[in-house]
Amino acid sequence: MRLETPRLVLREYTEDDSTAVLAYQSDPRYLRYYPWEERTLDDAQRFVRTFIDWQSESPRRRFQLAVLLRESGTLIGSCGVRRKPDDDTEADIGFELSPEHWGRGYATEAATAMAEFAFRGLGVRHLSSWCIAENVASARVLEKLGMSLEGRLSAAEHFKGRDWDTLLYGMTRERREGRI
Ligand SMILES: CC(C)(COP(=O)(O)OP(=O)(O)OC[C@H]1O[C@@H](n2cnc3c(N)ncnc32)[C@H](O)[C@@H]1OP(=O)(O)O)[C@@H](O)C(=O)NCCC(=O)NCCS
Repeated sequence: MRLETPRLVLREYTEDDSTAVLAYQSDPRYLRYYPWEERTLDDAQRFVRTFIDWQSESPRRRFQLAVLLRESGTLIGSCGVRRKPDDDTEADIGFELSPEHWGRGYATEAATAMAEFAFRGLGVRHLSSWCIAENVASARVLEKLGMSLEGRLSAAEHFKGRDWDTLLYGMTRERREGRI
């Protein structure tokens, strides 16, 4: 599976991607809203292997692709959709990007292509996502995608010695297509 946008290529992971994944996942800015304090090469290899394993699901429910800059071929992040095991018209979407490349609209560009693939390619009818409430950039990307805030869960996560509220977002195919 491969998606292309004006500035990005989204392609399947290969084992060789672990080093680039580790480089950005080790950045403290990236780690801020995750439970992890640090990432090791072993963590990055398991991260990549999980997504390689998804490539052979049949029927395939989960698609997590490496995000690369089209011009240089540099791996700058990850974006995926995962259909629910008991309902393949329902999926969630997720994304992450190297802090070196934040603030240029890349996450929105990648997630928009992935949402289109979910709705048009997979026949998904409802797409959802969630983020840590303080992760303003992530919430903003979900809003720019056209998703609506559907709820706030108090203290839904606990890590790094404190509670974190989470925000739930959702969007139907009809709503998305009304926007195009
Ligand atoms: C969330 C993430 C993917 C966003 O990537 P990005 O490429 O910078 O996103 P975009 O440039 O497409 O959009 C970011 C938006 O957030 C806004 N934003 C970023 N930081 C902000 C802040 N502190 N306050 C207010 N707005 C902020 C930007 O201005 C932009 O909105 P705009 O286009 O209206 O100006 C990136 O921050 C990331 O990888 N974070 C770590 C991993 C993560 O949290 N993933 C999501 C898990 S749910």
